[in-house]
Amino acid sequence: MNQMTNSHILVNEFDYLEPASLDEAIALLKQYGDRAQVAAGGTNLVIWMKMEQCAPAYVINVGKLPGLTGLSFQDEGLRVGPLTTIRALRNAPRVQATYTGLAEACAAFGSAQIQMMGTVGGNVCNGSPASDTVPALLAFDAQLTLTGPAGKRNLPIADFLLGPGQTALQPDELLTGIHLPQPQPGTGSAFVKISRVAADLAKASAAAVIVRRGDEIVACRLAFGSVSPTVLRAHRAEQLLAGQTFSAELALEAGQVASEEVTPIDDVRSTARYRRQVIRALTHDVLQLAWERAGSQAQDSEVEKPKTPPTTAPGHQGVLAKTLHVAHGETHEIELTVNGRRHRLAVRPNELLLNVLRERLGLTGSKYGCGLGECGACTVHLDGQPALACLVLAVAADGREVLTVEGLQGPNGELSPLQQAFIEHNAFQCGYCTPGMLMMTQKLLEEIPAPSEDDVRDYLKGNRCRCTGFASIVRAVLSAGRPVDR
Ligand SMILES: Cc1cc2nc3c(=O)[nH]c(=O)nc-3n(C[C@H](O)[C@H](O)[C@H](O)COP(=O)(O)OP(=O)(O)OC[C@H]3O[C@@H](n4cnc5c(N)ncnc54)[C@H](O)[C@@H]3O)c2cc1C
Ligand code: FES
Ligand code: FES
Repeated sequence: MNQMTNSHILVNEFDYLEPASLDEAIALLKQYGDRAQVAAGGTNLVIWMKMEQCAPAYVINVGKLPGLTGLSFQDEGLRVGPLTTIRALRNAPRVQATYTGLAEACAAFGSAQIQMMGTVGGNVCNGSPASDTVPALLAFDAQLTLTGPAGKRNLPIADFLLGPGQTALQPDELLTGIHLPQPQPGTGSAFVKISRVAADLAKASAAAVIVRRGDEIVACRLAFGSVSPTVLRAHRAEQLLAGQTFSAELALEAGQVASEEVTPIDDVRSTARYRRQVIRALTHDVLQLAWERAGSQAQDSEVEKPKTPPTTAPGHQGVLAKTLHVAHGETHEIELTVNGRRHRLAVRPNELLLNVLRERLGLTGSKYGCGLGECGACTVHLDGQPALACLVLAVAADGREVLTVEGLQGPNGELSPLQQAFIEHNAFQCGYCTPGMLMMTQKLLEEIPAPSEDDVRDYLKGNRCRCTGFASIVRAVLSAGRPVDR
């Protein structure tokens, strides 16, 4: 890490722009070119800016643009709006049933907070070989729609990926659609990932889509992440599998071939040697899973279709009547409702929600830990969804409802049942992580009133505690959940 990095603040000054329409967003991109950076969920961009890896003069927040969020299931396949959050994709029953490998990739992704903030479009456009949704999208042969001043163009995701951090996206273009073809009958898919800890980028990942007829592999697409300059397909391994009778030995053989096709490097997460070795095992595992599902998976026609598609991507409401432009160094008045109280505040484009809450509103319950989205200590709720306040631009939170740990207590200052459970189970020592733990598990209990231990641990995979250990925290949350027959 750059020694000058101060992850508490955003050092860089920039103009903040919120376009009111797609056309205006494109016009702004055309005007400012590579001096501008697009922000969707901001989970990559804000970190790059904090780490001083990029210093855009203009930040164009497309996160509130209408029409770019949500899932639409059609006869010819699935259309995904690029602003759809990773969490919304993961939780959509029809994605889980029909595009299982993609739902699995989203579930394997970072922390619950990052899944709730990060978008699938941001994951694709950042061009990282470690992007978790990309192997699954490549294995499903996704087509991307890019929109620029000259209109729309479509290209396969394979042609979009050019190198680490490099894509075919032009500076004046936006990703405006992702289309996954309807899988053939007898299709099964899977995604597997190996990482240093649960909430980390992949050391290596693999996605497979298999079409099965009886014992025969009719066709197979295999894609790998974190083992080459871009996410890539293993064409030779695919050819070895096509038309063959499936067996564990064949899957291992395909793994050997795939491990010769990838070109991994040594980096902070792993060594090239380990990555090449592990690809053999990951290939076997992902093929086995996809194969079993191809034999048993409900076809799309059998999956219960909700009347309205599951399109929830929280926090992307509030379309503007006209483009907002706040010049660097200037302030813009925002309205925040925090724990039920309205506040009007003048904020600069590079102020962060966490600093506003702590330093300007005196709400010091939300903690600054890492400043980089990794510890969860700053977790608050934004319009009811957990969000990492250290990664949220205050100006982008205009008009939104914020709940901090101070807002969990009742009207007379009484602690919530969850807070009481933390005390009863000695679920903290220094208490620094506790506000973030409470905000996450409060939401968990709203979503799953009687969670399992796995649910609690999965929800807390992005929250760090350096002194208590997780056992008593998990016990506290389970005891605060609704009693069920376990
Ligand atoms: C703690 C932590 C853990 C993480 N874990 C994972 C993980 O496990 N797996 C993983 O894959 N990633 C992970 N990430 C990376 C990141 O969260 C994802 O890549 C996320 O999907 C990015 O989406 P976003 O909307 O936040 O992108 P942003 O930060 O808003 O944008 C990312 C890039 O894409 C561009 N962009 C975004 N949307 C568009 C669009 N519609 N059109 C054109 N350009 C666009 C932006 O200009 C920017 O260059 C992690 C990040 C953090 C901080
Ligand atoms: S301070 Fe925000 S995640 Fe660590
Ligand atoms: S109680 Fe100290 S960091 Fe968790």
